[in-house]
Amino acid sequence: MSKNPTIGVLYSRVRVEEKWIFAALEQRGVDYDRLDDRKIHFDLCNPEPWLKYDAILERSISYARGLYALRTLNAWGIPTVNTATVSEACGDKIATSTALSKANVPQPCTLVAFTPESAQEAIETLGYPAVLKPVVGSWGRLLAKINDRDAAEAILEHKAVLGSYQHSIFYIQEFIEKPGRDIRVFVVGDRAVTAIYRKSPHWITNTSRGGVGEICPLTSELETLCREAARAVGGGVLAVDVIEHPERGYLVNEINHTLEFNTAQPTSGVDIAGMIVDYLIEVAKGKKGD
Ligand SMILES: Nc1ncnc2c1ncn2[C@@H]1O[C@H](COP(=O)(O)OP(=O)(O)O)[C@@H](O)[C@H]1O
Ligand SMILES: [Mg+2]
Repeated sequence: MSKNPTIGVLYSRVRVEEKWIFAALEQRGVDYDRLDDRKIHFDLCNPEPWLKYDAILERSISYARGLYALRTLNAWGIPTVNTATVSEACGDKIATSTALSKANVPQPCTLVAFTPESAQEAIETLGYPAVLKPVVGSWGRLLAKINDRDAAEAILEHKAVLGSYQHSIFYIQEFIEKPGRDIRVFVVGDRAVTAIYRKSPHWITNTSRGGVGEICPLTSELETLCREAARAVGGGVLAVDVIEHPERGYLVNEINHTLEFNTAQPTSGVDIAGMIVDYLIEVAKGKKGD
């Protein structure tokens, strides 16, 4: 392979993260194409136009677009950050929880049920409050904290009757009394590179919901846990979200495979975009990843 790899960046919109990523590629003199997921198509009978890429970075806002693109590219042998397998494990909360369970990584007690009645029974075994989440979703949307049986019945019925098929797969968690924040740890390859707290008076601490970033010391305990969590879903460039349980300590809540870091990069002062690009170049050179 030539010394200077050809890179593609698949994106939906040029957000601040994409601007930083493009700048990092340009700083390193890397040849790259901007691939707008609203404009491209794949001809499954003809991979030829795509084979020039030594690696593609997936930055789609839509989980489905990103996943189908990755599946196609990986089927053609084109390395991607992250891989389709990792995207599958992170984008679906049940897949993440089962991967964490298999790897014995501590997580909140999580129950899965397929009917409103069995979901109600599952919630009763946990007790109140309980948390209900869509299996596929982000930015804290459609999360419900259920404080009593009446609320459980109402939400379960609404989901079953008004929601799409996907909302009838019930993902139920114990509510963790965390200290007004959660922790987001950025993992690049084998390294946890930085961490931030996301603080909020609301129990949902996503920055898209008003959570405020603050630097979080990256202890060796946190680092080891997040490396293990990242490995459990197949590794790559990942943001591991951790909740602090008052007795059980760190629990891995979810793992994000298409990371947003518009708060974390200025808060931590760590060049996350540059690290992602360096990792991508290594993948393109065949040193890392699939
Ligand atoms: N079981 C829980 N107990 C307490 N807080 C939770 C729990 N699950 C999620 N949260 C809070 O809600 C936020 C969003 O939850 P998350 O599972 O990450 O959904 P999303 O994928 O929409 O970001 C978390 O960052 C955390 O602050
Ligand atoms: Mg989250």
